[in-house]
Amino acid sequence: ETIKWTPEMAQKGGYSHFMLKEIHEQPEAVKNTLSEVSDIENIVSQFPQFKRITFVACGTSHHASLVGKYLFEALLGLPTDVVLASEFEFSEGAIDPDSLVIFISQSGETADTLKALKIANKKAKTLAIVNVLGSTATREADYVIFTRAGPEIGVAATKTYISQLTCIYLLAACMGKNRELLDELQQIPDYMKTVLLLEEDIKEMAAKYKDAQDFFFIGRGFSYPTAMEGALKLKEITYIHGEGYAAGELKHGPLALIDDDVPVVAVVPPGKSHDRTLSNVEEVKARGARVIGLGSEDDQVLSYEASDMIKFPSQIRELISPLLYVVPLQLLSYHMSVQRGIDPDKPKNLAKCVTVE
Ligand code: G6P
Repeated sequence: ETIKWTPEMAQKGGYSHFMLKEIHEQPEAVKNTLSEVSDIENIVSQFPQFKRITFVACGTSHHASLVGKYLFEALLGLPTDVVLASEFEFSEGAIDPDSLVIFISQSGETADTLKALKIANKKAKTLAIVNVLGSTATREADYVIFTRAGPEIGVAATKTYISQLTCIYLLAACMGKNRELLDELQQIPDYMKTVLLLEEDIKEMAAKYKDAQDFFFIGRGFSYPTAMEGALKLKEITYIHGEGYAAGELKHGPLALIDDDVPVVAVVPPGKSHDRTLSNVEEVKARGARVIGLGSEDDQVLSYEASDMIKFPSQIRELISPLLYVVPLQLLSYHMSVQRGIDPDKPKNLAKCVTVE
Protein backbone atom coordinates (compact mmCIF):
# COMPACT_ATOMS: atom_id res chain seq x y z
CA GLU A 1 0.00 0.00 0.00
CA THR A 2 1.21 3.49 -0.78
CA ILE A 3 1.17 6.40 1.64
CA LYS A 4 -0.93 9.24 0.32
CA TRP A 5 1.03 12.45 0.59
CA THR A 6 -0.99 15.61 0.46
CA PRO A 7 0.70 18.87 -0.65
CA GLU A 8 0.33 20.09 2.93
CA MET A 9 2.17 17.07 4.35
CA ALA A 10 4.99 17.72 1.93
CA GLN A 11 5.14 21.37 2.94
CA LYS A 12 5.47 20.37 6.57
CA GLY A 13 8.58 18.39 5.67
CA GLY A 14 7.64 15.38 7.79
CA TYR A 15 6.71 17.38 10.90
CA SER A 16 3.17 17.09 12.30
CA HIS A 17 2.66 20.84 12.28
CA PHE A 18 4.16 23.93 10.70
CA MET A 19 4.87 25.28 14.17
CA LEU A 20 7.07 22.31 15.04
CA LYS A 21 8.88 22.56 11.72
CA GLU A 22 9.45 26.27 12.29
CA ILE A 23 10.77 25.69 15.82
CA HIS A 24 13.29 23.26 14.39
CA GLU A 25 14.25 25.68 11.64
CA GLN A 26 15.50 28.18 14.20
CA PRO A 27 19.23 27.35 14.05
CA GLU A 28 19.04 27.89 10.28
CA ALA A 29 16.99 31.06 10.69
CA VAL A 30 19.62 32.55 13.01
CA LYS A 31 22.36 31.61 10.56
CA ASN A 32 20.55 33.31 7.68
CA THR A 33 19.86 36.39 9.74
CA LEU A 34 23.50 36.62 10.82
CA SER A 35 24.42 36.99 7.15
CA GLU A 36 22.65 40.38 7.23
CA VAL A 37 25.52 41.86 9.22
CA SER A 38 27.09 43.77 6.32
CA ASP A 39 23.74 45.35 5.39
CA ILE A 40 23.29 46.34 9.01
CA GLU A 41 26.82 47.81 9.21
CA ASN A 42 25.99 49.82 6.13
CA ILE A 43 22.76 51.17 7.61
CA VAL A 44 24.46 52.03 10.89
CA SER A 45 27.15 53.99 8.98
CA GLN A 46 24.37 56.28 7.68
CA PHE A 47 22.93 56.96 11.14
CA PRO A 48 23.14 60.46 12.56
CA GLN A 49 23.93 60.66 16.29
CA PHE A 50 20.71 59.45 17.95
CA LYS A 51 20.01 60.44 21.54
CA ARG A 52 17.26 57.95 22.21
CA ILE A 53 15.59 54.88 20.78
CA THR A 54 11.92 53.93 20.80
CA PHE A 55 10.75 50.46 19.78
CA VAL A 56 7.19 50.04 18.51
CA ALA A 57 5.50 46.68 17.87
CA CYS A 58 2.68 44.25 18.77
CA GLY A 59 2.48 40.72 20.12
CA THR A 60 5.62 38.63 19.89
CA SER A 61 7.39 41.49 18.10
CA HIS A 62 6.71 43.59 21.20
CA HIS A 63 8.62 41.03 23.28
CA ALA A 64 11.57 41.21 20.88
CA SER A 65 11.44 44.98 21.42
CA LEU A 66 11.63 44.53 25.20
CA VAL A 67 14.83 42.51 24.79
CA GLY A 68 16.05 45.37 22.59
CA LYS A 69 15.51 47.83 25.41
CA TYR A 70 17.65 45.88 27.88
CA LEU A 71 20.32 45.35 25.24
CA PHE A 72 20.55 48.95 24.00
CA GLU A 73 20.65 50.29 27.52
CA ALA A 74 23.24 47.76 28.66
CA LEU A 75 25.55 48.02 25.66
CA LEU A 76 25.02 51.51 24.28
CA GLY A 77 23.80 53.43 27.31
CA LEU A 78 21.07 54.90 25.10
CA PRO A 79 17.74 55.64 26.78
CA THR A 80 15.32 53.20 25.14
CA ASP A 81 11.55 53.02 25.34
CA VAL A 82 9.20 50.31 24.20
CA VAL A 83 5.71 51.30 23.14
CA LEU A 84 2.92 48.98 22.01
CA ALA A 85 1.89 50.04 18.51
CA SER A 86 -1.75 50.40 19.55
CA GLU A 87 -0.66 52.82 22.31
CA PHE A 88 1.79 54.84 20.23
CA GLU A 89 -0.55 57.69 19.33
CA PHE A 90 -0.95 58.37 23.05
CA SER A 91 2.79 58.77 23.67
CA GLU A 92 4.13 60.21 20.43
CA GLY A 93 4.91 63.43 22.31
CA ALA A 94 8.15 61.85 23.51
CA ILE A 95 9.44 61.40 19.94
CA ASP A 96 11.76 64.14 18.67
CA PRO A 97 14.18 64.56 15.74
CA ASP A 98 17.02 63.02 17.80
CA SER A 99 15.09 59.76 18.17
CA LEU A 100 15.39 56.59 16.16
CA VAL A 101 12.03 54.81 16.11
CA ILE A 102 12.41 51.09 15.43
CA PHE A 103 9.38 49.17 14.18
CA ILE A 104 9.45 45.41 14.54
CA SER A 105 6.98 43.38 12.52
CA GLN A 106 7.04 39.90 11.05
CA SER A 107 4.45 40.70 8.40
CA GLY A 108 5.13 44.40 7.88
CA GLU A 109 1.36 44.75 7.54
CA THR A 110 -0.01 44.97 11.09
CA ALA A 111 -2.47 47.87 11.07
CA ASP A 112 -1.53 49.31 14.48
CA THR A 113 2.16 49.20 13.59
CA LEU A 114 1.64 50.86 10.20
CA LYS A 115 -0.43 53.61 11.77
CA ALA A 116 2.31 54.31 14.32
CA LEU A 117 4.92 54.28 11.54
CA LYS A 118 3.00 56.99 9.67
CA ILE A 119 2.95 59.18 12.78
CA ALA A 120 6.64 58.58 13.57
CA ASN A 121 7.77 59.29 10.00
CA LYS A 122 6.67 62.90 10.46
CA LYS A 123 8.86 63.40 13.51
CA ALA A 124 11.94 61.22 13.42
CA LYS A 125 14.05 58.68 11.56
CA THR A 126 12.37 55.28 11.34
CA LEU A 127 13.82 51.80 10.96
CA ALA A 128 11.69 48.74 10.20
CA ILE A 129 12.83 45.20 11.06
CA VAL A 130 10.57 43.02 8.90
CA ASN A 131 10.38 39.45 7.61
CA VAL A 132 8.26 39.97 4.50
CA LEU A 133 10.01 41.53 1.50
CA GLY A 134 7.99 44.25 -0.19
CA SER A 135 5.53 44.64 2.70
CA THR A 136 4.09 48.07 3.48
CA ALA A 137 6.44 48.75 6.42
CA THR A 138 9.48 48.18 4.18
CA ARG A 139 8.20 50.84 1.79
CA GLU A 140 7.48 53.44 4.44
CA ALA A 141 10.41 53.33 6.85
CA ASP A 142 13.64 55.29 6.31
CA TYR A 143 15.80 52.22 6.94
CA VAL A 144 14.89 48.53 6.57
CA ILE A 145 16.48 45.38 7.94
CA PHE A 146 15.22 41.94 6.85
CA THR A 147 14.96 39.14 9.35
CA ARG A 148 15.36 36.36 6.73
CA ALA A 149 13.55 33.72 8.80
CA GLY A 150 11.77 32.45 5.68
CA PRO A 151 7.98 32.14 5.49
CA GLU A 152 6.26 31.39 8.77
CA ILE A 153 2.89 29.61 8.49
CA GLY A 154 2.08 28.80 12.13
CA VAL A 155 0.04 31.61 13.68
CA ALA A 156 2.22 31.63 16.81
CA ALA A 157 5.51 33.32 15.95
CA THR A 158 8.62 31.23 16.67
CA LYS A 159 11.48 31.42 14.18
CA THR A 160 10.58 35.00 13.25
CA TYR A 161 10.93 35.99 16.92
CA ILE A 162 14.39 34.44 17.06
CA SER A 163 15.35 36.20 13.82
CA GLN A 164 14.06 39.52 15.12
CA LEU A 165 16.18 39.06 18.22
CA THR A 166 19.18 38.18 16.07
CA CYS A 167 18.73 41.44 14.10
CA ILE A 168 18.45 43.45 17.30
CA TYR A 169 21.65 41.89 18.68
CA LEU A 170 23.44 42.54 15.38
CA LEU A 171 22.23 46.12 15.36
CA ALA A 172 23.40 46.72 18.94
CA ALA A 173 26.75 45.05 18.19
CA CYS A 174 27.25 47.18 15.06
CA MET A 175 26.21 50.42 16.77
CA GLY A 176 28.52 49.67 19.69
CA LYS A 177 31.34 48.29 17.49
CA ASN A 178 31.26 45.24 19.72
CA ARG A 179 33.36 42.56 18.00
CA GLU A 180 33.11 40.21 20.94
CA LEU A 181 29.33 40.10 20.75
CA LEU A 182 29.43 39.59 16.98
CA ASP A 183 31.69 36.56 17.51
CA GLU A 184 29.50 35.23 20.30
CA LEU A 185 26.42 35.44 18.06
CA GLN A 186 28.07 33.10 15.56
CA GLN A 187 27.79 30.35 18.18
CA ILE A 188 24.04 30.70 18.68
CA PRO A 189 22.98 28.24 15.92
CA ASP A 190 25.04 25.44 17.51
CA TYR A 191 23.80 26.19 21.01
CA MET A 192 20.29 26.18 19.63
CA LYS A 193 20.74 22.71 18.15
CA THR A 194 21.79 21.50 21.61
CA VAL A 195 18.73 23.10 23.17
CA LEU A 196 16.41 21.47 20.60
CA LEU A 197 17.69 18.06 21.72
CA LEU A 198 15.71 18.60 24.93
CA GLU A 199 12.45 18.03 23.06
CA GLU A 200 11.72 14.50 24.34
CA ASP A 201 12.12 15.62 27.98
CA ILE A 202 9.94 18.63 27.35
CA LYS A 203 7.23 16.48 25.79
CA GLU A 204 7.10 14.43 29.00
CA MET A 205 7.01 17.61 31.04
CA ALA A 206 4.10 18.86 28.92
CA ALA A 207 2.11 15.74 29.81
CA LYS A 208 2.63 16.45 33.52
CA TYR A 209 1.51 20.07 33.37
CA LYS A 210 -1.04 20.21 30.57
CA ASP A 211 -4.11 20.15 32.85
CA ALA A 212 -3.19 23.22 34.90
CA GLN A 213 -5.50 26.20 34.41
CA ASP A 214 -3.12 29.01 35.25
CA PHE A 215 0.62 29.46 34.96
CA PHE A 216 3.05 32.17 35.96
CA PHE A 217 6.26 32.77 34.04
CA ILE A 218 8.84 34.82 35.92
CA GLY A 219 12.18 36.43 35.12
CA ARG A 220 14.17 39.61 35.68
CA GLY A 221 16.02 41.85 33.23
CA PHE A 222 16.81 39.96 30.04
CA SER A 223 14.69 37.06 31.27
CA TYR A 224 11.55 39.12 31.78
CA PRO A 225 10.71 39.32 28.04
CA THR A 226 11.42 35.59 27.79
CA ALA A 227 8.89 34.99 30.57
CA MET A 228 6.35 37.15 28.74
CA GLU A 229 6.89 35.40 25.44
CA GLY A 230 6.61 31.99 27.15
CA ALA A 231 3.27 33.05 28.62
CA LEU A 232 2.06 34.37 25.25
CA LYS A 233 2.87 31.08 23.50
CA LEU A 234 0.93 29.26 26.22
CA LYS A 235 -2.16 31.45 25.84
CA GLU A 236 -2.11 31.40 22.06
CA ILE A 237 -1.96 27.68 21.42
CA THR A 238 -3.02 25.83 24.61
CA TYR A 239 -5.80 28.22 25.74
CA ILE A 240 -4.35 28.00 29.26
CA HIS A 241 -4.05 31.27 31.16
CA GLY A 242 -0.42 32.24 31.47
CA GLU A 243 1.03 35.45 32.90
CA GLY A 244 4.53 36.68 32.31
CA TYR A 245 5.67 38.66 35.34
CA ALA A 246 8.76 40.51 36.45
CA ALA A 247 9.94 38.26 39.26
CA GLY A 248 10.41 41.23 41.61
CA GLU A 249 6.73 42.18 41.25
CA LEU A 250 5.39 38.84 42.50
CA LYS A 251 5.22 40.18 46.04
CA HIS A 252 3.03 43.09 44.88
CA GLY A 253 0.02 40.96 44.04
CA PRO A 254 0.42 37.66 42.22
CA LEU A 255 1.75 35.82 45.30
CA ALA A 256 -1.86 35.87 46.51
CA LEU A 257 -2.77 33.60 43.59
CA ILE A 258 0.01 31.06 44.02
CA ASP A 259 -0.84 27.60 45.34
CA ASP A 260 -0.28 24.00 44.32
CA ASP A 261 -2.59 24.38 41.32
CA VAL A 262 -0.50 27.14 39.73
CA PRO A 263 2.79 26.02 38.21
CA VAL A 264 5.55 28.64 37.93
CA VAL A 265 8.05 28.68 35.09
CA ALA A 266 11.19 30.44 36.31
CA VAL A 267 13.76 31.76 33.82
CA VAL A 268 17.02 31.83 35.78
CA PRO A 269 20.15 32.01 33.60
CA PRO A 270 23.52 32.62 35.28
CA GLY A 271 24.13 36.34 35.82
CA LYS A 272 23.02 39.46 37.62
CA SER A 273 19.39 38.41 38.13
CA HIS A 274 20.10 34.85 39.19
CA ASP A 275 20.13 34.96 42.99
CA ARG A 276 17.10 37.18 43.36
CA THR A 277 14.94 35.16 40.97
CA LEU A 278 16.07 32.06 42.81
CA SER A 279 14.69 33.49 46.04
CA ASN A 280 11.37 34.03 44.24
CA VAL A 281 11.47 30.36 43.30
CA GLU A 282 11.78 29.55 47.00
CA GLU A 283 8.85 31.84 47.81
CA VAL A 284 6.47 30.23 45.32
CA LYS A 285 7.58 26.76 46.36
CA ALA A 286 6.78 27.59 49.97
CA ARG A 287 3.22 28.29 48.75
CA GLY A 288 2.98 24.89 47.10
CA ALA A 289 3.72 25.77 43.46
CA ARG A 290 5.41 23.28 41.19
CA VAL A 291 8.36 25.02 39.54
CA ILE A 292 9.81 24.44 36.09
CA GLY A 293 13.30 25.96 36.29
CA LEU A 294 15.29 27.09 33.27
CA GLY A 295 18.95 27.52 34.05
CA SER A 296 22.54 26.47 33.54
CA GLU A 297 23.46 22.78 33.61
CA ASP A 298 25.82 23.72 36.47
CA ASP A 299 23.08 25.27 38.58
CA GLN A 300 22.68 22.72 41.33
CA VAL A 301 20.65 24.96 43.61
CA LEU A 302 18.01 25.63 40.95
CA SER A 303 18.03 21.96 40.02
CA TYR A 304 17.37 21.10 43.64
CA GLU A 305 14.62 23.70 44.10
CA ALA A 306 12.78 23.04 40.82
CA SER A 307 10.27 20.22 40.36
CA ASP A 308 11.48 20.02 36.76
CA MET A 309 14.62 21.52 35.31
CA ILE A 310 15.45 22.54 31.75
CA LYS A 311 19.24 22.68 31.48
CA PHE A 312 21.22 24.90 29.14
CA PRO A 313 24.94 24.93 28.31
CA SER A 314 26.69 26.89 31.09
CA GLN A 315 28.36 29.25 28.58
CA ILE A 316 25.02 30.90 27.80
CA ARG A 317 25.26 34.10 29.80
CA GLU A 318 22.32 36.27 30.74
CA LEU A 319 22.88 38.86 28.00
CA ILE A 320 22.45 36.35 25.16
CA SER A 321 20.05 34.03 26.98
CA PRO A 322 16.89 35.48 25.33
CA LEU A 323 18.02 33.92 22.05
CA LEU A 324 18.01 30.44 23.56
CA TYR A 325 15.93 30.22 26.74
CA VAL A 326 12.66 30.84 24.90
CA VAL A 327 13.06 27.75 22.69
CA PRO A 328 12.04 25.11 25.29
CA LEU A 329 9.06 27.31 26.19
CA GLN A 330 7.91 27.21 22.56
CA LEU A 331 8.24 23.41 22.65
CA LEU A 332 6.46 23.14 25.99
CA SER A 333 3.42 25.03 24.69
CA TYR A 334 3.50 23.18 21.40
CA HIS A 335 3.38 19.76 23.09
CA MET A 336 0.73 20.82 25.60
CA SER A 337 -1.36 22.12 22.71
CA VAL A 338 -1.15 18.84 20.79
CA GLN A 339 -1.77 16.79 23.96
CA ARG A 340 -4.86 18.89 24.66
CA GLY A 341 -6.19 18.10 21.18
CA ILE A 342 -5.68 21.60 19.77
CA ASP A 343 -4.24 22.43 16.35
CA PRO A 344 -1.31 24.70 17.28
CA ASP A 345 -1.07 26.02 13.72
CA LYS A 346 -4.56 27.49 13.79
CA PRO A 347 -5.52 28.74 17.25
CA LYS A 348 -9.09 29.94 17.57
CA ASN A 349 -9.86 33.67 17.24
CA LEU A 350 -6.30 34.55 16.20
CA ALA A 351 -4.84 35.57 12.85
CA LYS A 352 -1.28 35.49 11.56
CA CYS A 353 -1.55 39.09 10.48
CA VAL A 354 -3.94 41.59 12.01
CA THR A 355 -4.89 44.27 9.50
CA VAL A 356 -7.54 46.01 11.61
CA GLU A 357 -6.93 48.51 14.41
C1 G6P B 1 -0.54 38.63 15.40
C2 G6P B 1 0.21 37.31 15.31
C3 G6P B 1 1.40 37.35 16.26
C4 G6P B 1 2.29 38.56 16.00
C5 G6P B 1 1.49 39.85 16.02
C6 G6P B 1 2.31 41.00 15.47
O1 G6P B 1 -1.14 38.74 16.65
O2 G6P B 1 -0.63 36.24 15.61
O3 G6P B 1 2.17 36.16 16.12
O4 G6P B 1 3.31 38.61 16.94
O5 G6P B 1 0.35 39.74 15.19
O6 G6P B 1 2.53 40.77 14.11
P1 G6P B 1 3.71 41.38 13.26
O7 G6P B 1 3.53 40.79 11.88
O8 G6P B 1 3.52 42.86 13.25
O9 G6P B 1 4.97 40.97 13.90
